[in-house]
Amino acid sequence: MDLLKERIVKDGQVEGSEILKVDSFLNHQIDVELFNEIGKEFKRLYDQEEITKILTIEASGIGIACIVAQYFNVPVVFAKKTESRNLDKETYESEVYSFTKQKSYRIRVSKKYLNEKDKILVIDDFLANGKAAFGLKDIIDQSGATLKGIGIIIEKTFQPGGKVLREQGIRLDSLARVKEMKDGQVIFE
Ligand code: G4P
Ligand code: NA
Ligand code: NA
Repeated sequence: MDLLKERIVKDGQVEGSEILKVDSFLNHQIDVELFNEIGKEFKRLYDQEEITKILTIEASGIGIACIVAQYFNVPVVFAKKTESRNLDKETYESEVYSFTKQKSYRIRVSKKYLNEKDKILVIDDFLANGKAAFGLKDIIDQSGATLKGIGIIIEKTFQPGGKVLREQGIRLDSLARVKEMKDGQVIFE
C-alpha cells in the first residue's frame, strides 16, 4: 500500500536495526484518515470472504481494528492482557511470549464473544515474531471459529512471524513489508 509506505518513509523512525517507531501516526498519535484508507484496503482484500468478527489484541491493535470493522459492519473483539475481576469467568486463554519485553503474558477472550459460527479476520499493527498472532490463532482454535486471515499494517520480514504463519497455510496480508532497516533507512520487500 503505497500511501502507507510513503508515510513510513516520511515519519517512521528507525531505532537500531530492529525497531521501527511510528508513534506519529500509528502507535501514539493516530492518523484517522490513514486508518480509513487501511480499512478500505482490507475490505478490498477480503471482499470475497464472509467475516463475522474482527479479532485483535490490546492495546495498539484496537484503534485500527475498530476502523477496519466499520468497513465490514461487524464487531471487534480484543484479547485482554490483564487479569480483571470484571472479566467473565469462562474464557479462552493463551500464553504469549514477548521478545521485546522478554517475558510471557496471558491473553484472554470471554467465551461469550467467540464461537464456532464465527469467521474471523485478525487485525494487528505489527508482525515481528508472530507470537501475538499465534496466541490469537490458539484462542480461535479453542472456540471452534474459523480464521479467515490475518491483516497486518507493518510486517518486519527479517523476523520470522510472517514466514511461519504462511508455512502453516494461514492467509496473511501485510500492507507494508519491511525487509531491512539500516542507517536510519527503511527498505521494503
Ligand atoms: P510478536 O507478537 O510479533 O512476537 O512481537 P514482539 O513480542 O516482538 O513485540 C511485542 C510488542 O512490540 C507488540 O506490541 C508489537 O506490536 C510491538 N512491536 C514489535 N516490533 C515493533 C516495531 O518495530 N515497532 C513498533 N512500534 N512496535 C513493534 P504489543 O505487545 O501488542 O503492545 P501494545 O503496543 O499493543 O500494547
Ligand atoms: Na504495539
Ligand atoms: Na500490537
